[in-house]
Amino acid sequence: MTNPILVALDTSDSDAALALAEKLAPVVGGFKIGSELFTSAGPDIVRSIREMDKDVFLDLKFHDIPNTVAHAVAAATRLDIQMLTVHTSGGHTMLEAAVTASKEEAAALGITPPLVLGVTILTSLGSDDMQKIGMDANVSRQVHRLSRLAADSGIHGLVCSPLEVAKLRQEMPEYFTLVTPGIRRSEDTRSDQKRTLSAPDAIEAGADRLVIGRPICAAPDPRKAAEEILRSITA
Ligand code: C5P
Repeated sequence: MTNPILVALDTSDSDAALALAEKLAPVVGGFKIGSELFTSAGPDIVRSIREMDKDVFLDLKFHDIPNTVAHAVAAATRLDIQMLTVHTSGGHTMLEAAVTASKEEAAALGITPPLVLGVTILTSLGSDDMQKIGMDANVSRQVHRLSRLAADSGIHGLVCSPLEVAKLRQEMPEYFTLVTPGIRRSEDTRSDQKRTLSAPDAIEAGADRLVIGRPICAAPDPRKAAEEILRSITA
């Protein structure tokens, strides 16, 4: 079985990120590199993690005109990453362009294309915010609409809250990869995460990969924390 744990390297310090990644590499499936680390450390941090033979989830949430997103996805594909994100609200043409670019660039390089994953509605947005930006104030209806759009545009999966996984698993095509943050053990502090599940519960609900940050990175012994979480889902 693929190790489903993707550790979120949420820091701007590339040395600290690499040191942590080296410590965790034997017990996790890969690492999520988001806009903070990528903007600070650039593509070199991606290459260093790939040299450890670990998966990279490049979470830059592309959202632009289709041509620009296609070129950004092609550039990301050249880094030999395994997953990347785009905003589904970028629309059908943008989503299709992202998928096509990943496939064409990977074929030209003779590598496996990354999974293009959709982000629907950021969990930081509530119905008030939705109304102010002129979207359906019913968040779950809007999530559903964008998820369908993603599937119809050839996207390979979604990033979603652990509490949405079971429903999406039923509604979305079988091949869809569902990646979920918001993972907490009962002993973890929830911090700013409100809608959480434990790792085994998220897997049980149908999640394929788990993005875990502070429960591992902020633990006194990050490797031990990762090992415990891995044991909880493989036992
Ligand atoms: O530290 P924690 O486990 O909460 O980190 C979760 C990671 O997943 C962070 O990188 C965060 O930005 C990301 N994320 C999230 N909620 C979302 C989407 C992404 O927590 N809805």
